[in-house]
Order: sequence, then structure tokens, then C-alpha cells
Amino acid sequence: MIADISIPDCSKLFIGGEWVTPDQQKSYSNENPARREPINEVAIAGAADVDRAVQVARAALDSKEWAGMPAADRGRLLWRVGQTLRERAADLAALESLDTGKPFVEALYGDIPHAAGAFEYFGGWSNKISGEVLPVPPRFFDYTRREPVGVVGAVIPWNFPLQMAAMKIAPALAMGNSIILKPAEQTPLTAFALAGILEELGLPAGVVSVLPGFGQTGAAIVAHADVDKITFTGSTAVGKQIMRGAADTLKRVSLELGGKSPNIVFEDADIKRAVRGVTTGIYYNQGQMCTAGSRVLVHESVHDAFMEAFLAEASKIRPGDPMAKETRMGALVSEEQFERVSQYVEIGRKEGANVALGGGPGDGDGYFYKPTVFTDVRPEQRIAQEEIFGPVVATTTFADEEEALAIANGVTYGLASGIWTNNLSRAHRVAQGLKAGTVWVNTYNALWNEAPFGGYKQSGHGREGGRYGAELYTEIKNVCIYI
Ligand code: NAI
Ligand code: MG
Repeated sequence: MIADISIPDCSKLFIGGEWVTPDQQKSYSNENPARREPINEVAIAGAADVDRAVQVARAALDSKEWAGMPAADRGRLLWRVGQTLRERAADLAALESLDTGKPFVEALYGDIPHAAGAFEYFGGWSNKISGEVLPVPPRFFDYTRREPVGVVGAVIPWNFPLQMAAMKIAPALAMGNSIILKPAEQTPLTAFALAGILEELGLPAGVVSVLPGFGQTGAAIVAHADVDKITFTGSTAVGKQIMRGAADTLKRVSLELGGKSPNIVFEDADIKRAVRGVTTGIYYNQGQMCTAGSRVLVHESVHDAFMEAFLAEASKIRPGDPMAKETRMGALVSEEQFERVSQYVEIGRKEGANVALGGGPGDGDGYFYKPTVFTDVRPEQRIAQEEIFGPVVATTTFADEEEALAIANGVTYGLASGIWTNNLSRAHRVAQGLKAGTVWVNTYNALWNEAPFGGYKQSGHGREGGRYGAELYTEIKNVCIYI
């Protein structure tokens, strides 16, 4: 299978529209997590490379080709990027599956169209975000302009590599910025494929650079004095480091971080539908989702019936070859992630929670982990408080709405949440009470480019998606004229 996939050359950096050798000529071996086999060698960008990319990004920002390009033309260019991603969806999905261990089918119908959609959607905003004229006293004329923030540094994770790259690059370019992308060390392939497409479509040189590497490369981008904004998706721990790192130069920062999202099943829910939603809510992408519904709160009166159906549904999912058409769960992304998940399951056992399903590795050489369900979890236990980022769910019961909200909100995170009920008033009431950036009612993980997405509390800063996601890449200037 791997022989059929054309792997992009990742030995060079993409800077200023050219493929260049990294200053220190260092590289690392990128792994296929489903087979624990090397895929290719990937360059590591160092501080000197970051500096070079920032200089060309700054020059591009003010260039005739980019600053002088009409907004509508920027939009058309982004639309063509989206179209090209769609045309090459099968190849890109194969790369994504190979690199991350996720099912090919999910990459094909999920990641790639979503990434294409981001370019199309934000391309549309290029000539629609505008300033306003303000009603100040008559002797003055006052208006605002939405200007690009400038040079943007984007640091992204490995769970949805192309999609994450698109969610940062598309709005940044739509608003006229230039951007430096650092893909996650585990998953560089589609970032290189995307750079090739941007080059092919004639994006002006320097507007997008791709600098692969580890955390140090990311930290060098964050520290660079001439980067105006950092947009980051990843762990809350690194998000905090980035905020500290950005403080010295007072960069703008938007952060999309971790979660411990509750799925709340009320006694009046459609249990069959809730079971399906809760199952994909936790197990999609092997549970490696910031929105993973990793806590399931079930009303005590329906707990037994729900659990029986949920366990039956979850036990149908068997981790297997990501490239096989029937596979709905692939491998975890890395040994590190596999260890982290295994350790959390041990912690759960030691804390006295009951393993009702799974609780160990799947078959095969890759980093496969079985869908795992903990029951009788107390809300204060670590497996109910900390992000595991794997196919592990903590289930617990509640007696009434008030208790459900107290448990749901009783974590440091606030990214997403789900409510399962057929009572309209209850749905709105609980939606109001939840401290989370997204509330899903009788559905889960319904994520759209059109809708804002981001976190309350330690789940982040700012909202991606929708008009908000475009505005995140603008600076507001007020112009006041005495007439
Ligand atoms: P991470 O937060 O360390 O990595 C994300 C990105 O940040 C990568 O590109 C990495 O190279 C970069 N990075 C690391 N340290 C940096 C630094 N000091 N300055 C700038 N950039 C830096 O995530 P990791 O270690 O891969 O996963 C650990 C945990 O993070 C997961 O178990 C999960 O809980 C959470 N996570 C959350 C994600 C989300 O979508 N919100 C995505 C990936 C991980
Ligand atoms: Mg990889």
C-alpha cells in the first residue's frame, strides 16, 4: 500500500517560495504509527531558518504582489487552493492516514474536505470584512479599517494536520497576512503537500513558509521579535508557555487548547441516538480530539439501559489497519501518545474506577489501543479531570440538572459539551449553564468552518471559524478626520 503513495520530499524547508536546506542540516525520522516503520527523513528548522522565513514573510507582506493584490483576487486564489485539495483528496487522505494512523476513510471524508472548505470559506471573506463609519460629532469624520495583523506564526498539532494548517493559513491569507507554519513533528507530510500546491498555484513568494521541527522550532517562532501574532493549537501546557513566550514582544496570541468535554444524557433523551453520538464523540480519531466527549454523565434512572447499549456499540469498534476501507479506528499517533493513554488507564484503575470495556492495547504492531470505558468514576478523579487524548471515556451518574451542570463545569477546561434530551426548555437551560465554547444538542462533533470554535477557561483564547475566525487575523485602525 505504502508503495502506491507518493511521499513529498520533506528534506528541505519551504521559505520565500523556494525549497532550501536547513541551516544546521539536521533531520529526524518520521514514523508510520500503524506499523512502527519509518516513512521519511524530515528537516529540522533552526533559529537561523526562522529568522530567514520571518524576513521574507515581512517583505512579502508589503510587496506589490501580495499587498497590491485586490482582496477579491486573494479570495479567488484561496478558492483554487480549496478546489485543488478536493481534486487530490485521495492522495492527501492517504498521506494523512499514513502519517497519523487515522482511518483513510475518515481522512478522505472528514479532514480533507474540511481543509478544502476552510480555503473556500475564508476565501469568501477576503473582500467582505470591512470597517465602519462611526457617528461622531459633526465636525469629524471617523472610520475604521481592518488591516492585516502582519507576520503570523502558526504552530499546529498532529491530530488533524491538514485541517489545522488550513484553519490557520486560510483566514490569515484571506485577511492579507503572511504566515509561517510549523507542522507537528509527528505529521509533516500534508504540510509539505500543501506548500507544493501553493507554489503550483502561484502564491506570491514568502507569503507562506513551512518550517518543520520540534518544540524548539515553535519556540523560536514565538520568540522572534518580528512576528506579530501566534496562532496555536495543541496542549494547554504548551499554550501557557506560548503565552509567556509571547509576552516579551506583546504578540497577539490565539490559542485552541485541550478539553475534557462532558456529554450529558438526560432521562428524556432518545437513548439510541445518544448512544451513537456518545460513541463517535469519544472514539472518532482514536479519541485524539480536543473536543472528545471524554466524560459521559448519565441520569441515574437511565444509567443501566444506556450503559448496556453503549458498551454493545463501543465493543463493535476494533482498532485495525488504517488503510482498510472498513476500519473505523486506527492507531494512536505515536509511542509517546500510546504511553500516555496506557498510563492514564493505569491511573484510573488505581483510583478505583471500573474498566467495563477495553483497557489495553489492540492487536498488531502499531500503537493500537482498544476502546476503553470506565464506569463508576468520581468527578474528582484524575481520569475525569485531565485530558487523556485517547479512546478512553469516564462515565458517571447524576441525579438532577443542577448536579449535572456542577459536574460538567467542574473542570479547568471549557471547550465543548453535549446535551442529550427531548425537552426543549431543558436543552436551552442547560446550554446557558454550560461553561464551554460549543454546546451540541442531540448531536456531537458537528464542526463547521462557518461556526465559531474555541474555548472557555483553560481551553484557550479566541474563536476560529466563522467571521470571528477571519477577524482574528485583523488589526483595527481608527481614522479620525477634522473636517
Ligand atoms: P504539544 O502541545 O506539545 O504540541 C503541539 C505543537 O506545539 C507541536 O507542533 C509541537 O512541536 C509544538 N510545541 C511543543 N512545544 C513547544 C514550545 N515550547 N513552543 C512552541 N511550540 C511548541 O502536544 P503533544 O506533546 O504532541 O501532545 C500532548 C498532549 O497535548 C496530548 O496528549 C493532548 O492532551 C494535547 N493535545 C491537544 C491538541 C488539541 O487539538 N487541542 C492537539 C494535540 C495535543
Ligand atoms: Mg508521522
